[in-house]
Amino acid sequence: MKIVIANWKMNPLKFSDAEKLINNYQIFKNVKVWITPPNIFLLSLKNKFKKIIFGAQNIHFEEKGAYTGEISAKMIKNIGARFVIINHSERRKMGENLEMANKKIISALEINLITVVCLGEEKRIKNLSQLKNEWSKQLNLLFKEVNLIKNKNRIIIAYEPTWAISTYGQGSVPREIVYYFINFLREKNIQSKIIYGGSVFKENIENYLDLPLDGFLIGSQSLIPKNFNRICSLITSSKKQSF
Ligand code: 13P
Repeated sequence: MKIVIANWKMNPLKFSDAEKLINNYQIFKNVKVWITPPNIFLLSLKNKFKKIIFGAQNIHFEEKGAYTGEISAKMIKNIGARFVIINHSERRKMGENLEMANKKIISALEINLITVVCLGEEKRIKNLSQLKNEWSKQLNLLFKEVNLIKNKNRIIIAYEPTWAISTYGQGSVPREIVYYFINFLREKNIQSKIIYGGSVFKENIENYLDLPLDGFLIGSQSLIPKNFNRICSLITSSKKQSF
């Protein structure tokens, strides 16, 4: 079973459009769709679409208190969210850093929320040893004082280099780099699920389908049901289904 996370980011504008999006998603064998809608729709969507797993796009690391505009891990868990995306590059662009992401990971794991932790280089690095150094640096900061073995089923690592996200328009990650990334984590005995989230489109997903990935994190294309369904159907019909 592959996990496909639809990260809607700050879309759509109305609840009725959110319902419409989900109603237009098709169900595919061996593909489990998880959705991170804007928090304002989370509770109502959760109540309406009981079989879908919903999560949040971000949390604050404190449980409660004077943090205007923020929402805690416990709050999203209390309304039925099962997971949260942490360290998304768009959060980092807004000034968040890996130390903050580390605290968020710890606060989510403490209450058994699944953490989808984004990791990846900001700018394209072609030299492999430099690339691995960058990944190591990020891993060490993100998972400081986190027991990766004990929490292996509560952590999903999303390889999502900033430069590859469609918003920044520089294209997707070469297949072999994604493969190196997976091997890099496995050599470090990290046993969590690994998904890929550098821009995934129906036109490029085939590059990644034979890699030992557990799924994909999809942004813009999750807002276009026809394309999203095509992506899921290509995943369904790919030969390797589980690793
Ligand atoms: P795009 O799929 O729009 O490139 O976004 C990727 C992403 O940020 C998913 O979280």
